[in-house]
Amino acid sequence: MDPKSLLAQLTLEEKAALCCGAGPWTTAEVARLEVPRVFVADGPHGVRRVVDEHAMAQTSLPSTDFPTAVSLASSWDTALVREVGEAIGREAAAQGVDVVLGPGANIKRTPLGGRNFEYFSEDPYLAGEMAVAWIDGVQSRGVGASLKHFALNNQEFQRNVIDAVADERTLRELYLPAFETAVRRARPWTVMTAYNKVNGALCAQNAPLLTDILKQEWDYQGVVVSDWGAVRERVASLAAGLDLEMPGPRPRGVRRIVDAVGNGELDVAVLDDAVLRLLRLAARASHRSAAEEPDAAAHHALARRAAADGMVLLSNDGTLPLDGRGTLAVIGRSAEHPHTQGGGSSHINPTRVDIPLEALAAAAPDAEVRYAEGWGADLSPQPERILAAVELARRAEVALVFVALPGSIESEGYDRTELGLPPAQVALIRQVAAAQPRTVVVLNSGGAVDVSPWVDEVAAVLQGWTMGQGGGGALADVLLGRVNPSGKLAETYPLRLEDTPAYLSYPGENGRAPYTEGLFVGYRYYDARGVPVRFGFGHGLSYTRFAYAELEPAAPAFDDGDVLRVAFTVTNRGERAGKEVAQLYVRDVASRLRRPVKELKGFAKVALEPGESKRVTLALDRRAFAYWDPAYGRWVAEAGEFELLVGASATDIRLRATVTMRQGTALPCILRRESTIREWLADERGRAVLEPLMDAIVGGLRAGMGAAEEGAEFIGMDLMGFLMDMPLLNVLSFDQSEDGPTAEERVDAMLAAAHADGAALHRKELP
Ligand code: BGC
Repeated sequence: MDPKSLLAQLTLEEKAALCCGAGPWTTAEVARLEVPRVFVADGPHGVRRVVDEHAMAQTSLPSTDFPTAVSLASSWDTALVREVGEAIGREAAAQGVDVVLGPGANIKRTPLGGRNFEYFSEDPYLAGEMAVAWIDGVQSRGVGASLKHFALNNQEFQRNVIDAVADERTLRELYLPAFETAVRRARPWTVMTAYNKVNGALCAQNAPLLTDILKQEWDYQGVVVSDWGAVRERVASLAAGLDLEMPGPRPRGVRRIVDAVGNGELDVAVLDDAVLRLLRLAARASHRSAAEEPDAAAHHALARRAAADGMVLLSNDGTLPLDGRGTLAVIGRSAEHPHTQGGGSSHINPTRVDIPLEALAAAAPDAEVRYAEGWGADLSPQPERILAAVELARRAEVALVFVALPGSIESEGYDRTELGLPPAQVALIRQVAAAQPRTVVVLNSGGAVDVSPWVDEVAAVLQGWTMGQGGGGALADVLLGRVNPSGKLAETYPLRLEDTPAYLSYPGENGRAPYTEGLFVGYRYYDARGVPVRFGFGHGLSYTRFAYAELEPAAPAFDDGDVLRVAFTVTNRGERAGKEVAQLYVRDVASRLRRPVKELKGFAKVALEPGESKRVTLALDRRAFAYWDPAYGRWVAEAGEFELLVGASATDIRLRATVTMRQGTALPCILRRESTIREWLADERGRAVLEPLMDAIVGGLRAGMGAAEEGAEFIGMDLMGFLMDMPLLNVLSFDQSEDGPTAEERVDAMLAAAHADGAALHRKELP
């Protein structure tokens, strides 16, 4: 039966019950009408399907533990991420899971964010592309995704109550676009709200976010689900646009809904809209064709390949790749106990785990691989362990030092407290490096760490991330050069925590986290302030070298709304096959509102044999040039020049070209009584009205002030400069003569004339 006919047959009690979970992982069923329950399970980097469905945090069925989002995003490979999504979808279907709770599309505002390992990037464009690829992959298997956590879950500190306070433009340009892209392009079956508040209201009860933006503006037709336990008041949340409260059962919530409809507090149309969405979800889930048995070995191989492609070679003096001969000192506990994932709801029970130490020994049969633990599980300083490691390193050809942030430090539910590695690991790295010049550090963390105390003392640093169950094998592949590293940072490595954008306002006080840095987060901040960084956004080395040439926009000039194609050539100039992540940034040369120096608007991962060249073409749509102007409440692209910057990272731009937008966005007139002369002249209609009168106005003013002649001394100032930032009304008010119209009447008449022609083009260069 179709959802609309079903809706007509449901009782009020049944409708209310559908809007509240029935169990920790299930929605309610309506047996008499054959409406099936929907079964959900965590993600996002695998399927956490608990064995006993009545338990929340119990051991789950084995499933492939894929690299977490930080690693997937560092691959910059949408095809790969889609493939991972497909595999997760396949495993979910085989376990009877209808919706996988992922991906996370939140922006990394501070490197201390506890869930950063579960999130893609500091950049909304990259995060959006990754989320689309992941959702497309999962949903191609007839399983739904749950895009989360909508919105602004940028810290775990006080996550259930903290009020993330951000201005409209910051929301629109930084924190919402990844969600918007994913909703519009990938149409996730469900969207999960965050725990926190945004601008005063809990996300689960936030009408501007859930109804105005998500459902109306973005035309979202799926189910909005709460994070687990995020709803405080069920009726308020329903009215705000939250369709499903999880987990269940929630008998009080059901009763509240029934009563609220009964006493007129809640419009039944609101309930019906939520129920219709839930009925459509149940119908989608029940239409899935019979599940195929996932191929565990193939998925493990995919996990290994994905982990390798996400690894980032941060620095290398040529020590890597290893030649696989001589004595290899493998030092550090994470070589034996790899940190494959972060803690919390995303925790997977892996089907197997590659141990880096074993994988290295297997991949380098000609080397003598020797191991020293170096640091212990409790992370306390252990001089004897370090001493043994140093001895081993001294007698080897190369030392590989494995360091990791364990789940006790990186987890959902709490933030990191520092950027640095545990002191025991720092001491180990430094002492091993002092004894062995060919020391390579293998990092195993879910986010950026402070490498400053030791990075200049070691030969190479490889960031393996929270790399999933195949990470051990992937590390061996990359260290030995079987896979040429091609990952690039999806987040900046700062020099110091004090340099980070949110340093002064994170984690907030008295329940409020004011996002005072606005949209200047990640490289947007470092660029704007000229703050040097350790490794820039988009940075990552390879065992080969790439050259960039021949940047050609399809046209030198275009109009708002046109798609601008941009082509350039990437060449592999080295001896090894490799993959380059080429990045395209757009810079607005001049704008009415302050904008980031540049913003990522396109990228491509290009595989190249030695000596091979490929032409890359990227398309820029209007959003690539636009910013959100709160004065107009819309996206605005201004006519004028834009620079296209192509490079290997945000700090390594290789090619530049300038293009001109001839016609920008047509905008309504927003001049008002308080508008300044400068604002009048910047508006095409205002200029047409004011310019012809300007000489008379200025002349009259001069005369009134006793400096009638042009060029006469005027109390040592430039009169025009003085007037530019003064409201027209104030300027006209200098004339206090009793005849003729008042200053207010004159301005109102000019405003009426300026507003008369409707939309017009905004001028970019201000006088
Ligand atoms: C997490 C969600 C997760 C849910 C279900 C919450 O604590 O924030 O990401 O999907 O639990 O486990």
